[in-house]
Amino acid sequence: MKPSNTQESKFTKSMAWLDARFPATETFEYHMSRYYAPKNFNFFYYFGILATVMLVNQLVTGIWLTMNYVPTGAGAFASVEFIMRDVEYGWLLRYLHSTGASFFFIVVYLHMYRALMYGSYRGPRELLWLIGMAIFVALMAEGFFGYLLPWGNMSYWGAQVIVSLVGAIPYIGPDLMEWVRGDFLMSEATLNRFFALHVIALPLVLVMLVFVHFVALHHVGSNNPDGIDIKKTKDSNGVPLDGIPFHPYYTVHDIHALVVFFIIFLGFVFFAPEGWGYFLEKPNFEMADPLKTPEHIAPVWYYTPFYSMLRAATYPLFGVPAKFWGFVVMVGAIIIPAVLPWLDRSPVRSMRYKGMWSKVMLGQFVVSFFILGYLGTKGPTDVRTAAAQFFTMTYFAYFVLMPWYTRIEKCKPEPDRVTAR
Ligand code: HEM
Repeated sequence: MKPSNTQESKFTKSMAWLDARFPATETFEYHMSRYYAPKNFNFFYYFGILATVMLVNQLVTGIWLTMNYVPTGAGAFASVEFIMRDVEYGWLLRYLHSTGASFFFIVVYLHMYRALMYGSYRGPRELLWLIGMAIFVALMAEGFFGYLLPWGNMSYWGAQVIVSLVGAIPYIGPDLMEWVRGDFLMSEATLNRFFALHVIALPLVLVMLVFVHFVALHHVGSNNPDGIDIKKTKDSNGVPLDGIPFHPYYTVHDIHALVVFFIIFLGFVFFAPEGWGYFLEKPNFEMADPLKTPEHIAPVWYYTPFYSMLRAATYPLFGVPAKFWGFVVMVGAIIIPAVLPWLDRSPVRSMRYKGMWSKVMLGQFVVSFFILGYLGTKGPTDVRTAAAQFFTMTYFAYFVLMPWYTRIEKCKPEPDRVTAR
């Protein structure tokens, strides 16, 4: 129904009142209705908005879970059972949060992969990429701290393995490990600090980082699958010829993706919330037991590529135990993408116009990541360790050899305007 003139003038008056006191219309125009996004966005450009929605999902369901969760050694496991059985819709809140964590990572990994494909990390988006990397590291920490909270047996032993890595640091390791745990072994003191970090410290950091991620993005403008700068070709009003206003075009476009995504996500929440032991691991249905180690200690799937690399280091070096070098390799693997903007020397941004070497290296990087992920879910054997060592090298080769292969390969010329593909 069309608003009547009186309704319209009431709205105009209210907005005028608000705009005189707060830049509401100006902000909306800058970030939405006059933010010109490239018109050739494809499937991979859905994942930023999906990540935003998943962040909100984790925050909201997390707040509600905290209302019934008890962060004590004696009460934590039982309080999760209570949420699952007795709290109205508690099971739904918990699964939206636990299955949600896995979907959040799926979405973020695809979001990052898009950047690798279209060179979104390259100038002028280096800072945007670095902020993204900070989000990624914070997200990994957030998931790690959260995983201890149900106080299941895998929670306990998984955290024990990772915290004990700190102990392998020469000289300061043992004292540092005790400081991190707050005790001589994993205990309620550890649970309490992980709870504080998971429910308040890291969510605050994440929200602030995502905010600056948006500010930086809207300052430099979005990249696109052709990797070309749409600001180079503007009409007489200064509007990019290949850009369309984000609102209403992409808001409607993104709602479509959200509906499809939620059908899949809720399908899992309702019918396979444990993700066949990948989203919620079987030993975590038993309470933490410091005297009973699970048969295979394995983190949740989204950490397993890095866990494989941690276990791939098997030789002590310079008198320092292999465990410490594994820790170094794992941290290195997580943060090495941060330097991508300075490793890529190609004259073009997008994989569409890069040469054969870039395609082969990205392809083998993805394969290595999946194989490492698979190996990390399994117990180690000699063959699996050798495979993990090989794929750790191919993982790093993608980054380390990039300055060389992006320079020698033959690229296709970039078009002047975006292509409709
Ligand atoms: C909570 C997590 C995150 C949220 C909510 C988020 C949100 C967004 C949104 C909404 C966009 C614009 C839409 C799009 O391009 O898909 C975007 C773009 C971008 N994000 Fe993220 N992001 C997150 C994590 C990351 C991470 C971990 C990285 C990389 C390490 C990253 C790197 C980028 C880059 C490079 C762009 C520009 C892409 C382009 O224009 O081609 N983001 N992000």
